[in-house]
Amino acid sequence: MTEPTTTNTGAPVASDEFSRTVGPDGPIVLHDHYLVEKLAQFNRERVPERVVHAKGGGAFGTLTITEDVSAYTRAAVFQKDTETKMLARFSSVAGELGSPDTWRDVRGFALKFYTEEGNLDIVGNNTPVFFIRDGIKFPDFIRSQKRLPHTHLRDADMQWDFWTLSPETAHQVTYLMGDRGLPANWRQMNGYGSHTYQWINEAGEKFWVQYHFHTEQGERNITGAEAEQIVGADTDYYLRDLFDAIERGDFPRWRVSVQIMPYEEAKTYRFNPFDLTKTWSHKDYPLIPVGHFELNTNPTNYFAEIEQAAFEPSNLVPGTDVSPDKMLLARVFSYADAHRYRIGTNYNELPVNRPISKVNSYSKEGAMRQFYTGGESPVYAPNSLGGPVADAAKAAESNGWESDGDLVRSAYTLRADDDDFGQPGTLVREVFTDEQRDRLVETLIGQYNSLTLEQVKERFLWYWTSVDGELGARITAGVTA
Ligand code: HEM
Repeated sequence: MTEPTTTNTGAPVASDEFSRTVGPDGPIVLHDHYLVEKLAQFNRERVPERVVHAKGGGAFGTLTITEDVSAYTRAAVFQKDTETKMLARFSSVAGELGSPDTWRDVRGFALKFYTEEGNLDIVGNNTPVFFIRDGIKFPDFIRSQKRLPHTHLRDADMQWDFWTLSPETAHQVTYLMGDRGLPANWRQMNGYGSHTYQWINEAGEKFWVQYHFHTEQGERNITGAEAEQIVGADTDYYLRDLFDAIERGDFPRWRVSVQIMPYEEAKTYRFNPFDLTKTWSHKDYPLIPVGHFELNTNPTNYFAEIEQAAFEPSNLVPGTDVSPDKMLLARVFSYADAHRYRIGTNYNELPVNRPISKVNSYSKEGAMRQFYTGGESPVYAPNSLGGPVADAAKAAESNGWESDGDLVRSAYTLRADDDDFGQPGTLVREVFTDEQRDRLVETLIGQYNSLTLEQVKERFLWYWTSVDGELGARITAGVTA
C-alpha cells in the first residue's frame, strides 16, 4: 500500500495538488503551512557550489594494500592486506557546476579513505605538479581562470597574463595544453597526490612521500576537435561514463604506488623537493608499488554524497603528515574553512564525511548538531571526570620537521636545478611524442590567436621559447604565417 505523504515533521498532508484558498477561486491563506514548507525548503535546496572544482562526480570503492610498506609508514590503512572503504571525486577546476566535462582543464582527483584511525584524504589532480608554489597566489590564479567582472566571460588575455607573469606555472601549463588537458574520461586518467607528504614508520623514522595512482584502464586522452564535439553533444560526458561503467559492473581500478625520499636527502637534493611545480626524478626515486583501489558503488544520492562530500588535505592519520610545501600548508587551512562556509560547521557529521573511527572531540554544538555524548560528560579539557585525553605519541601530527629562521616573505631558497623552465622543457622534448608535440603546437597557436593584448602576446612567445626553443620557433612561425 502506498504510504501517505507527510510534512517534514511527519504529519499526514491533505494535498500535493491544491493550495489552501478562500473558496476555489480566492486567495491563498498564509496558514497553509505545508505550501510554505514546500516553497521555503525548495528555496534552500542548493548549497553554494565549490569555489573551484564545482563540476564533478564520484563513486565509492575499496582500497586494497597488496605490498608491505611498513618500513616507511605505520598508518594502519597502508598495512599489507588491509582493505579500506573509500570515496573518489573527479572534477574540472575552473568551470561552474553545470560546465561541460570536456573543456580543457586540469582534473581534480580527490580521495577519501575511511580508515580505522580516522579519515585520510588525498586531494590531488591528474597532473603531478601545480601552477604556483605559494598559496598566497591561489586566489589570484583562480580569478584569472574565472570570469571578467563586466562581461562575465572567461578571458584568454587574463589567463595568459597571469601565467606568463608567473613563470613557475610553465610546467603545469605544459601538461594542461598537452594531451592531459583533455582526458577521454575520468576512468582513463592517472591521479597524483602532487605534493610531498611525510610518512613515519613504527620506529619513528621519517620519509618524504609522493602518491601516484595509475589507471588500469590505460591512460587515454582526446583531441581538441573531439572534445568540442562532445561539449555540444553531452556536457556530462565524464559523469555519465563513470556512472554507466559502475552500473554495468565494469569497475575502474587504479594502481597505487609511491616515491619515497629518505628524510635527510631532502636537505641536499638538487632542487627543492617540496616545490609543487616540480616532479621528483623516477630514476632517483623509483615507484614503489603499494596496492590498488577500485570504484564499485555509485552514489545513491548525488547531493547528499557528492555535493556534501568534504575533502581536505588536513585529514591525516597516524603515520602520515604534511611537509614544508608552502602550498600544502596553505591548503591545510583552506579546505576545512571552505566546508564550514559551504556546508556548515558540523559537516563532518554527515554520513559521507563521518569517520568510521570513534569521534572523541571536545568540539560541541553549532548549527545542525546531531551527535552528542551524555549530559554528564565533560565539555572541557583537561578535566578530572574521565573525558578523553590527547596523546601526542599517537597523534597524526606527532612528527614534523626542524625549521628555524627569521620571519620573512620570500621565495624558497634556490638550489642548483631550481629553475622554472627546465622540467617543462624536458617534458616537451623527452616525454611527449612527435604527435603530442604537434598537438601542443596546434593548441598553443589557437591560444595565441585568442589573445588581444600585445604585451601578453609578446610574453606568450617568450614563455614558450623559454620552455623549448624549437617549440617557441614553431609557434612563432605558426602565428605569423
Ligand atoms: C577544491 C582551495 C590547491 C585540488 C578546493 C576548494 C578550495 C580549494 C577552497 C573547494 C573545497 C570545497 O568547497 O569543497 C585551494 C587552495 C589551494 C589549492 C587555497 C592552494 C593553496 C590545490 C592543489 C590541488 C587541488 C595544489 C591538487 C594537487 C583540489 C581538488 C578539489 C579542490 C581535487 C576538489 C575536491 C572535491 O572533489 O570536493 N580547493 N586549493 N587544490 N582542490 Fe584545491
